[in-house]
Amino acid sequence: MSGSYAVTGSASGIGAAIRQRLLADGHQVIGVDRVDADVIADLATPAGRTEAVAAVASACGGELAGLITCAGLAGLPDRPASLLVSVNYFGTIEVVTGLREQLAAGGGSVVAISSNSTTCQPGFSLDLVDACLAGDETAAGVVADRAYSVSAYPATKTAIARWIRRNATTADWIGAGIRLNALAPGLVETPLAAEQRNDPTIGPLVAMFPLPMGRGGTPPEIADAASFLLDNQFCVGTVLLIDGGTEALLRPDAWPTRWEM
Ligand code: NAI
Repeated sequence: MSGSYAVTGSASGIGAAIRQRLLADGHQVIGVDRVDADVIADLATPAGRTEAVAAVASACGGELAGLITCAGLAGLPDRPASLLVSVNYFGTIEVVTGLREQLAAGGGSVVAISSNSTTCQPGFSLDLVDACLAGDETAAGVVADRAYSVSAYPATKTAIARWIRRNATTADWIGAGIRLNALAPGLVETPLAAEQRNDPTIGPLVAMFPLPMGRGGTPPEIADAASFLLDNQFCVGTVLLIDGGTEALLRPDAWPTRWEM
């Protein structure tokens, strides 16, 4: 059945592949990005998010079958960590919450893009995760700017995954028929990954990132996984790791873990 889907970060990489996949499946797609999109908006700012939500709500006629939040920035040494907080975390969560009514009306589901940096990049600030989840963007930005932007990235992506899991089971979301899920990709060959590879500080670290498959992922492989999460009616609060084996190599016994009551 065709429907309207909104994709943030639709101009490039994973978001562009998801957009293509949804179009090929016969859906209407409302792309949101800073450039080259149906809705041009800067998701780094509250005003940009408000504009994006209003434009998507209008374009979908009040009923959204799905929302996939791909807009995001990599951590780079010269990029402020507070910008990562604004784009990656608040630029995801405020768009999701802003479109709750349209998702409920359309029987929709959400796929937020997290990352396997959440479990494969050690030592990031859990205070920053908590500060994001507390919902005060200015305060979270202050906590973030005490950290190195490269280590703020996994904190923003962990906060996304936790927000999805905390909210997925509530009356506001599954109680309204809206499934919240997340994807946690490993290294995927996109302009974002190229930006990291080309950075003189981060590049050598990216080159050392273990890839048991012998290559990074491709955007269509991530689009397949997004399509699965959008369609499968029993996935609620799922964080689907799709990383060519990196996490299984680094931390084979980390999950499942026994529940200590
Ligand atoms: P990309 O750089 O190819 O695409 C990101 C898109 O987000 C771009 O079109 C960009 O214009 C948009 N964007 C950035 N800031 C924005 C803003 N302020 N307002 C509106 N749009 C904005 O990157 P890629 O790799 O496709 O990343 C997509 C998502 O996947 C990101 O959230 C990224 O963190 C995540 N991810 C990427 C991985 C990778 O290895 N490429 C691995 C794990 C997660």
